[in-house]
Amino acid sequence: MAYKVPFVDPRTHYRNLKAEIDGAIVDCLTRGDLICRQQLRDFEESFARFIGVKYAVGLNSGYHALLFGLMGAGVGPGDEVITVAHTFVATVSAIIHCGATPVLIDVSPDYNMNPDLIERAITPRTKALLPVHLNGRIGDMDRIMTIAAKHKLAVVEDAAQALLATFDGKKAGSFGIAGCFSFYPFKMLGGFGDGGALTTNDPGVARMATLLRYNGEDRETGEFFYHGQTALLDNVQAAVLSVKLRHLPDWVEHRRKIAALYRKGLEGAGDLRLPHFNQERQKDSFQNYVVRTGRRDELRAFLAREGVETLAQWRKPMWEHQGLGLKNPGVPETEAISAEVLSLPMSAETTPEQVEFVVRTIREFFGREFFRQ
Ligand SMILES: Cc1ncc(COP(=O)(O)O)c(C=O)c1O
Repeated sequence: MAYKVPFVDPRTHYRNLKAEIDGAIVDCLTRGDLICRQQLRDFEESFARFIGVKYAVGLNSGYHALLFGLMGAGVGPGDEVITVAHTFVATVSAIIHCGATPVLIDVSPDYNMNPDLIERAITPRTKALLPVHLNGRIGDMDRIMTIAAKHKLAVVEDAAQALLATFDGKKAGSFGIAGCFSFYPFKMLGGFGDGGALTTNDPGVARMATLLRYNGEDRETGEFFYHGQTALLDNVQAAVLSVKLRHLPDWVEHRRKIAALYRKGLEGAGDLRLPHFNQERQKDSFQNYVVRTGRRDELRAFLAREGVETLAQWRKPMWEHQGLGLKNPGVPETEAISAEVLSLPMSAETTPEQVEFVVRTIREFFGREFFRQ
């Protein structure tokens, strides 16, 4: 079904950048630069500079950034890692695949780790904190880093959804021992297939991730240091991501404008709760525009009928998926969120006219007749 307002619009996205992207791809292909060539090094350098860290290691997914970040932090069998229950499953799978135990705590109403709940979850086995900066909003890094320092815990940041989100002006992914990013196609910086990067100031962690991503081998010497994985960011993807990285600050500004339009149009509509949280120290980059309502499923069906595509993420809480083998962690905010959240169309291509249509449709749903200017 073709929506009047799609959730994201990859075709328009490509059309807008066609000349630059085609040029980057053709350049890689004509040179035969496919694996670990200059385009990958260039992207890693500019991405590290962009985030404000010494190193970035290009990987084939955000999941691998999390896995290698945790391994770099020394997480292994017998350890516990504190993270949130309201996240994409990859956050928790990375902990499990290190042989460690995820300890799931609740989030605050801004969808980020609730810092009040961290200390009571710490045990002698706790090795690391894994805050997830969700929807383009960074967690309270002042409190999280202070607690981590007090208890001598590593911090690995899941920044997959938090490009250009800042705390006191410092970017997500530059606080912990590792920052983990995803370049899944519909992320703010998306490839043409999955991709990811680990950011760090620690040369040991950067080296470990660089070896692990390529089967554990140092390709200069031929020495194998680990039983590694096959997790390289492809050279062609890196070249495309370098093109897109140059546009990212403008795209984030656009997202902030779109968020402001949603706010103006939707304030006071029904029982809607909008994602505009305290911006004193945090600055949000709006990877997603997530609203909450007790009538989520009804609203979603209505919007779909009217031609608006939305996403209701993680409707079934993680611990209810039997295959994941997780216990119910007793997290009431997460449970309420899973029944109430709805992501509205939001991308670099979303237009003010589309927002106006979405707003009008939502207001119609909640029984108002006119769109307030
Ligand atoms: C919060 C979060 N963590 C981790 C990931 C994993 O990233 P990837 O899909 O690139 O493995 C994602 C991506 O969907 C995510 O949104």
